[in-house]
Amino acid sequence: MHILGTGSYTPKRVVTNDDLATIVDTNDEWISSRTGIKERHISEGETSAELGARAALKAIEDAAIDPLDIDLIILASFTPDLTLPNVACQIQEKIGAFNATCYDLNAACSGFLFGLSSANAYLVSGMYRNILVIGSETMSRTIDWSDRSTCVLFGDGAGAAILTADNEKAYVAVSGSDGVKGKVLTGGGTILKNFLINSDTANIVADTFYIKMDGQEVFKFAVSKVPECINQVLEKAGKTPDDIDYYILHQANVRIISSVAKRLHISEDKIPVNLHKYGNTSAASIPILLDELRRDGTLKSGQKIIFSGFGGGLTWGASYMEI
Ligand code: COA
Repeated sequence: MHILGTGSYTPKRVVTNDDLATIVDTNDEWISSRTGIKERHISEGETSAELGARAALKAIEDAAIDPLDIDLIILASFTPDLTLPNVACQIQEKIGAFNATCYDLNAACSGFLFGLSSANAYLVSGMYRNILVIGSETMSRTIDWSDRSTCVLFGDGAGAAILTADNEKAYVAVSGSDGVKGKVLTGGGTILKNFLINSDTANIVADTFYIKMDGQEVFKFAVSKVPECINQVLEKAGKTPDDIDYYILHQANVRIISSVAKRLHISEDKIPVNLHKYGNTSAASIPILLDELRRDGTLKSGQKIIFSGFGGGLTWGASYMEI
């Protein structure tokens, strides 16, 4: 599989840690030292479809292809503005990819990675030629802005990649899920009208709609599962950690990234970070970083990279890719 082009987009409004300190009891020192996040971009009414379409148009321009040559759009998100029509179909209309089959995929923060692996399987089978995979999230719509333990962590944005078949460039993936432990990270439900008119059910609405997280359990899960699945994919690809040029990891917390580097005995120079600018943008975090690294010249043809992500579900995965 070969990356033909990438694009990303984040909303214009930037919310700093100091801004958040005016609405909840927090401060820049706490947020920076516990997470590495300094600011995040927050949508002012733009939907996941709009963010995703802007990222997709940049990827199409970068790939220099006609939107009509896109055969499949896989949209990874757990924050669709509507479930019908699906976000991928809404994006199809906005970008004019009228020959594409379109569907959404929800694997929370692992969504883009699962989308990449789905794309690879289709390309290997010969079913499609050009596939657009997008991660797009409006996390701000599912955040409880009075809960300091979660509202400081997330941001909105979208990233996209266009993939095509290439027998010369290997793609190897591992992934997994654990529904039994899913309760440590929940939210993003649809508010039913009946709930809203019955005050007895207000707590149910809040519990299902807003993100709720057992931060320490998620942290423990991430620092053990990410190195484990990276080791698995390296073994499957017949590579060692030193063979890899860059590790493009889900951008949730800089302490998780440092812990992964230590456990794998790899230099943090090989693990680019941009979460200080965006916070955790869930399914969008890996493609936004991928796009930035391609555009600033860090990633070059011939390099070997590892992607790895984890998230609600629980879900996780790692992919080895020759670019
Ligand atoms: N500002 C100031 N204080 C805060 C705070 C905030 N934004 N959020 C929580 N605190 C307080 C807590 O109330 C607690 O106070 P107490 O000791 O008086 O009870 C204290 O800080 C420590 O809270 P704790 O939850 O133990 O902090 P932590 O060191 O575990 O860090 C996270 C919290 C969320 C940063 C960390 O657990 C984490 O990153 N987990 C992984 C989250 C993640 O990546 N989720 C996305 C998955 S895709």
